[in-house]
Amino acid sequence: MDSTWNPTRYDTEESFVWKYGADVVEILAPRRGERILDLGCGTGHLTAQIAAAGAIVIGIDNSPDMIEQARHNYPQLRFEVADAAGFHFETAFDAVFSNAALHWMKQPRQVAACVYAALRSGGRFVAEFGGKDNIKAITAALNQAIRAAGYPIEPDFNPWYFPALGEYAALLEEQGFMVTDAALFDRPTRLDKGEQGLQNWIEMFGGEFLKSVPADQHLSVIRDVEDQLRPDQYHHAAWWVDYKRLRIVACKE
Ligand code: BEZ
Repeated sequence: MDSTWNPTRYDTEESFVWKYGADVVEILAPRRGERILDLGCGTGHLTAQIAAAGAIVIGIDNSPDMIEQARHNYPQLRFEVADAAGFHFETAFDAVFSNAALHWMKQPRQVAACVYAALRSGGRFVAEFGGKDNIKAITAALNQAIRAAGYPIEPDFNPWYFPALGEYAALLEEQGFMVTDAALFDRPTRLDKGEQGLQNWIEMFGGEFLKSVPADQHLSVIRDVEDQLRPDQYHHAAWWVDYKRLRIVACKE
């Protein structure tokens, strides 16, 4: 995750990120004594849920701020700053878990190779993240608003990796995994903070997009995005984001 993230805002305004992840912990079904790695652990809430099942869990994230907050939240657990595309542990894990993190990692082959190497034979990889067409409406509205304001959009402004199901399953298979379950599904997600929610979300997660826009113009671009999205994505006094999740379970044979 980006090292400029604000862990306090992440823990409060964007708490849905880890709250939704509880479903993925259920799929992981951690067992007492298992060694489990939480890849892209953020501020550690799901790491703690995994630990509560009796597993021996380590959380890693590339953001020192997130890891500092995770250690503060759960001082009894082990958290390390590490790059998902280049980590190594001496002892193999029974499972690698990841929620809402892999879409920030734009070297998916290297990440899959590290996950594979970290698992014992027979170990499992359970992950959920943004898949193909995730936040398509927000991305389109941001592009349009930035262009309309007279600023450029470069292809590498897009900080995310949202693969199709077949693409990601094939990538894991090339690595040697057997993919045992995979799904791409819509998960409209309600943002907290009412009217303010979409602005908060863009400020927290969309910073790369706004790189070409002077800071004093950000708010007017965001207002344009809100105007475009309001008819379809603001209802019942809340913003709804068009998330599409890719959920995958794979086994190291
Ligand atoms: C996601 O969880 O799908 C996501 C979060 C922030 C930015 C982009 C995608």
